[in-house]
Amino acid sequence: MQHTYQRRSPARCSDDDRFSVESVVLFSHLLGAFLLVSGIVVTGVAFEAARRGQTPLQIATLLGLARVGALLVVVGTLLVGAFGFWLVELGGFGYAAGWLDAALALLAVSIVLGAIGGRRPKRARHLAVAEINARDASSELRRLLDDRGARTLNYLAALLIVVIIALMVFKPGAA
Ligand code: HEM
Repeated sequence: MQHTYQRRSPARCSDDDRFSVESVVLFSHLLGAFLLVSGIVVTGVAFEAARRGQTPLQIATLLGLARVGALLVVVGTLLVGAFGFWLVELGGFGYAAGWLDAALALLAVSIVLGAIGGRRPKRARHLAVAEINARDASSELRRLLDDRGARTLNYLAALLIVVIIALMVFKPGAA
């Protein structure tokens, strides 16, 4: 891939070493990004399916799957963050780059929105497990699943990740 912007720091090791280390770090960063995005999709699909579930057993099973997706999101975020900071170091981008600052800020906002938005689905999962032998879901469980605020926060958090991907690829403002 050809880059049109300037990197600031001098190489601290040979070009060959730097190339291979940087490639592995970028690969790991991208792996984290794919895990993060896969986790978002699994969580979203499982949660929407759970909302349409009839019995507490169905709902608990689907929300259990949503939880696996959420764990993927956590692992992906940790990988993307750790290897992202390493890439900044290796590439000598510096934290003055606007696209990088914006990506970091959006990632922080996305994590906060996701953490707040995930509370109701988590309570819904616990409640569905508690009601597992009932024939129908209680009105409290339906209320938690249909909470518009929580859904808005979660979809907003996912949307911010799409914006971050665009920032990473287009790097607006980079020389
Ligand atoms: C802690 C936050 C992050 C930091 C510090 C960071 C940093 C970086 C850096 C320095 C690059 C290398 C750019 C290059 O060599 O061209 C990069 C590439 C990339 N990042 Fe991130 N990143 C972060 C979060 C994310 C997130 C959340 C995603 C998506 C889920 C993401 C997706 C990508 C992609 C797709 C590339 C490849 C872009 C390209 O090579 O054109 N990054 N990132």
